[in-house]
Amino acid sequence: MRNRAVVLRHFPAGVPGEGDFEIVDALMPDIAPGQIGVRTRFISLDPYVRGVISGRHLGHRLGLGEVIVGGTVGEVMASNDARFAIGDWVLGSGGWQSFWAESSTTLRRLDLKLAPPSSALGVLGMPGLTAYAGLIYLGLPKIGDTVVVSAAAGPVGATVGQLAKRAGCRAIGIVGSTEKARLITEQFGFDAAINYKTESLSTALAAACPRKVDVYFDNVGGATLEAVLQQLNLRARVVLCGLMTQYNQAERPSGPNLGPVIGARAELKGLVVYDHFDKLTHWTALAAELINNGTLRYQEDLSHGIESAPSAFVRLMRGENVGKALVALS
Ligand SMILES: NC(=O)c1ccc[n+]([C@@H]2O[C@H](COP(=O)([O-])OP(=O)(O)OC[C@H]3O[C@@H](n4cnc5c(N)ncnc54)[C@H](OP(=O)(O)O)[C@@H]3O)[C@@H](O)[C@H]2O)c1
Repeated sequence: MRNRAVVLRHFPAGVPGEGDFEIVDALMPDIAPGQIGVRTRFISLDPYVRGVISGRHLGHRLGLGEVIVGGTVGEVMASNDARFAIGDWVLGSGGWQSFWAESSTTLRRLDLKLAPPSSALGVLGMPGLTAYAGLIYLGLPKIGDTVVVSAAAGPVGATVGQLAKRAGCRAIGIVGSTEKARLITEQFGFDAAINYKTESLSTALAAACPRKVDVYFDNVGGATLEAVLQQLNLRARVVLCGLMTQYNQAERPSGPNLGPVIGARAELKGLVVYDHFDKLTHWTALAAELINNGTLRYQEDLSHGIESAPSAFVRLMRGENVGKALVALS
């Protein structure tokens, strides 16, 4: 057995390239008292990692030569805590490597009867909780509301749209390809999709939202945020979740124009999923139930082997992933 890891080779300028990462042989982790040794089966690739690399994610910065951070799911190989047995499946923060050691206090044992283990990194886990907490607790959707979400084919956006439908709302997704537009309308039950790369956002939004927008769940910022702000209903709620248009930029852009927020007496609410981890157990049980009764669907964008992690991350940061970006390790 040998450990392979992906480390940071250069700080990327703009969109990361595969050459910004390096695959190295690493030592097998020492399993200290109270720790569990885990063989990685799935690595989560998430947009926030771009922020960690550039030092913008809640003050956390990765150094050159360090293993790239990330959520991981794997099988217990060695245990220094009787509550975890060899062969248990667990969720933790192993980063981009094939083996990791972590304290038993931060690992979470997975119940494979609930859902496939990879879903703990997507719809059942952090991205799904982001959608659930952001929409339900900040977006406050009411029956008949129109809910718009950007990056709508990803794990956060797709879950927002489906939960909006479940809350009796009209769900409109903004996406960057025909394939994603088809996915969200045909598989995820959105009422309409807008492809911002081929349509005028303002015209398409006005057509898709004849009663204007009550909740906007923003995953991208920039021109998309500005266009949706122009269509807000009175007392609309805007959930500021992510800034995909900015993560690869060295400078923070000016704007957007917030004038329409005044006219609509709207509320802008910043979302940080870490504030909502007390709801994770509830969300995991609810999401598993909805998946098993067919009312919540999800898609994974799966790459294979640790060597594929850099290229898969580059695809995510270019917006080319379709579904939750994951790397599967055998
Ligand atoms: N606030 C929190 O606590 C929290 C927690 C988790 C995630 N988030 C945020 O939620 C958002 C969605 O996360 P996710 O994991 O579900 O990601 P994702 O949707 O799988 O991937 C991001 C998507 O953003 C879209 N995008 C729009 N403009 C882009 C641009 N200029 N460059 C690259 N991509 C662009 C792309 O889809 P299109 O082709 O459809 O444009 C891309 O596929 C991210 O902004 C993330 O940072 C926030």
